[in-house]
Amino acid sequence: MTGGTGRMAAAAAGGAGDETGVVTRLVRASEALPEDVATADGYIFATPENLAAMSGMMKDFFDRCYYPMLERLNGRAYAVMVCAGSDGTNAARQVERIATGWRLKAVAAPLIVCTHAQTTEAILAAKVIAPEDLERCAALGAAMAAGLAMGVF
Ligand SMILES: Cc1cc2nc3c(=O)[nH]c(=O)nc-3n(C[C@H](O)[C@H](O)[C@H](O)COP(=O)(O)O)c2cc1C
Repeated sequence: MTGGTGRMAAAAAGGAGDETGVVTRLVRASEALPEDVATADGYIFATPENLAAMSGMMKDFFDRCYYPMLERLNGRAYAVMVCAGSDGTNAARQVERIATGWRLKAVAAPLIVCTHAQTTEAILAAKVIAPEDLERCAALGAAMAAGLAMGVF
């Protein structure tokens, strides 16, 4: 809603894109289809935590894609990133639970960035993600891409 998750996702895609021989696609949850899931070797799911949950758009993505892809993704690599005001753990847990159902393999611990937005004004303001946090996202993307390229996942 306020750009933080998008900046994190762009940083991760940028980090992954530097890896030779790996094709990186940045797809909005609202536009992602089962075919997008089927044709990828690995996934970094990025969501804000809103009301102690993943975003409605991310939930909609999983609702639309879960059963069409069930039993077709076993063993593929994934990681989760959460943009949160002060917590983020429950959104991460929800994504982990769905990924477990898909039999995906976590290749990193959840990456949670807290924007420390507490007041209504701060929550509704456009989010700036600190350079060191964007670097963590880029490093996760690079690690995912390198692992896939080397076939270690
Ligand atoms: C309706 C709403 C509910 C929120 N609930 C939580 C919450 O439960 N836990 C939390 O850590 N942050 C919460 N936040 C803060 C957001 O996670 C934070 O603003 C984050 O930067 C949003 O990501 P975005 O910039 O990609 O929209 C909430 C924000 C909104 C608008």
